[in-house]
Amino acid sequence: MKTFYIETWGCQMNDLDSQRLSGSLKLRGLRRVDSELEADMILLNTCSIRDKSEQKVYSHLGRLRELKEERSELKIGVCGCVAQQEGERIIQRAPWVDFVMGPGNVGHLDAVLDREHAVAVDFPEDRRYDSLAIDRTSPTKAWVTIMEGCNKNCTFCIVPMTRGREVSRTFDEILDEVRVAVASGRVEIELLGQTVNAYRCHKSGRDFGALLGAVAEVEGVARLRFMTSHPAEVNDSMIAAMRDHENISRYLHLPVQSGSSRILRRMKRLYTRERYLEIVDRIREAIPEIHFSTDVIVGFPGETEEDFQETLSLIEQIRYGSLFAFKYSPRPGTPSLRIGEPVDDAVASERLNRLFELHEQHKRERLESYRGRVLPVLVEGPSKHDPAMFAGRTDDNWVVNFSGNPDTTLGSMLGVRIESAQHHTLRGEAV
Ligand code: SAH
Ligand code: F3S
Repeated sequence: MKTFYIETWGCQMNDLDSQRLSGSLKLRGLRRVDSELEADMILLNTCSIRDKSEQKVYSHLGRLRELKEERSELKIGVCGCVAQQEGERIIQRAPWVDFVMGPGNVGHLDAVLDREHAVAVDFPEDRRYDSLAIDRTSPTKAWVTIMEGCNKNCTFCIVPMTRGREVSRTFDEILDEVRVAVASGRVEIELLGQTVNAYRCHKSGRDFGALLGAVAEVEGVARLRFMTSHPAEVNDSMIAAMRDHENISRYLHLPVQSGSSRILRRMKRLYTRERYLEIVDRIREAIPEIHFSTDVIVGFPGETEEDFQETLSLIEQIRYGSLFAFKYSPRPGTPSLRIGEPVDDAVASERLNRLFELHEQHKRERLESYRGRVLPVLVEGPSKHDPAMFAGRTDDNWVVNFSGNPDTTLGSMLGVRIESAQHHTLRGEAV
């Protein structure tokens, strides 16, 4: 076996898991290729958060069947959250699959490959984590897992089942990984966890705010970001760390899901509308320029027009810079399946449109407010639209495409004068 191909769906945790899988395969001497046709091993790193994701995986596997029939030595592995959710069933429905491996086993790929037809869907006590075997794709940015799993059990969500109980890594392990990343030129660090701010070092008991401060102070960290925060886990230590460290991004993704306290209770989100608004106020008081973004679910079982109006009014009140909204999607085994009346699909679609329309104005307003200002931008690479231009991000996480000196170095911080706002991005010129 010489070559491998990885197909990745889903969130940043999955992207990072693919980098880890790729890193360990490279250590075994394999080479990564960009096409399934050239690969001796194909890994599907799957996502199961919404939208009949398991069907998508089975239909992809249907297409891979022919490849396997042509080349019997081809190995096919299903990884990620659908692997965890479906387990053994995958091999039953698609016997040409060689192994199934859930997110808890990413650090144990070697052991999985050494077994015939392995179905590894446990969460081993020793979650091996080899920081040196991460095949990082960005030259300027590194994702660093600080905790895995989730203990929150929101009634709509499959993550607690597919990613297991919360486990935090130790302070020292995380700081070591950050130092290694920075030494390789990754001056932007993004800390990852399903509920990243529930982090607690199991050795020293230090919390997320303490970790933020410690990582921000590592020599060479130009920018520090993190994903995803749970509103109920926001505390003063986290806010103070953000306020006191200039290199911590002025961006906070704080999923609200709904503006109706009645629905929030049914979702088991652990906060009310009022409490959420209070948290946002507290953060804005400390960091007035913060860019808030959020996730919203429309059409949760039992959501009435009145509930939805409350979501609209909360959105209007907060005026998020970015918003990700989804129609509720029933997930196998989640408690929401037994709650309330399903909302008609056409009604949910129409609510989704109204939500986007309202949010669009807020985003526009925010993007327009940068026009004429000079903002510090961390240079990430050539612009996707025009390779003669550069792309980077502002402190508060907006992508900026800009023209500048051709020998601008990646990973450097530049002043960029903003000339115009595009749909989701800014345009400007380096000063
Ligand atoms: N803590 C996670 C959240 C997981 S899912 C994180 O790191 O982002 C991301 C978003 O998907 C959630 O905030 C929620 O808005 C949405 N989502 C999760 N389950 C869903 C479902 N069953 N139907 C629709 N949207 C869902
Ligand atoms: Fe899912 Fe809620 Fe955890 S959205 S990841 S169960 S905080």
